[in-house]
Amino acid sequence: MKLSCRVNAKTEVLEVDALTPLIEVLRERLALIGAHQGCTGDNCGACTVLVNDVPVYACQVPACQVQGADVRTVEGLTSDPERLAPCRKRLPRPGPPPAASARQECS
Ligand code: FES
Repeated sequence: MKLSCRVNAKTEVLEVDALTPLIEVLRERLALIGAHQGCTGDNCGACTVLVNDVPVYACQVPACQVQGADVRTVEGLTSDPERLAPCRKRLPRPGPPPAASARQECS
């Protein structure tokens, strides 16, 4: 089938088998390797992407189900600072590891 969808705000048109898992299309055809195949299916969530702003396991979604859809991967989030900001705020601030901090306080 000819798959046409938007991936990270870019229109993509690809010839794919209708049942090819979305994770395979993203990783092998579009070189978007941020989503991973972390299990044999439906267990780990490492393949999670947004399809029309709904999180889905890309290993469980056949290509035919994203025809005309808006797909966003983690790579797409990095190009949109507003969407990534809440995630960045929750990350720990860079600094020495706790063991190094404890050593500084003891000396
Ligand atoms: S690869 Fe584990 S849920 Fe999709």
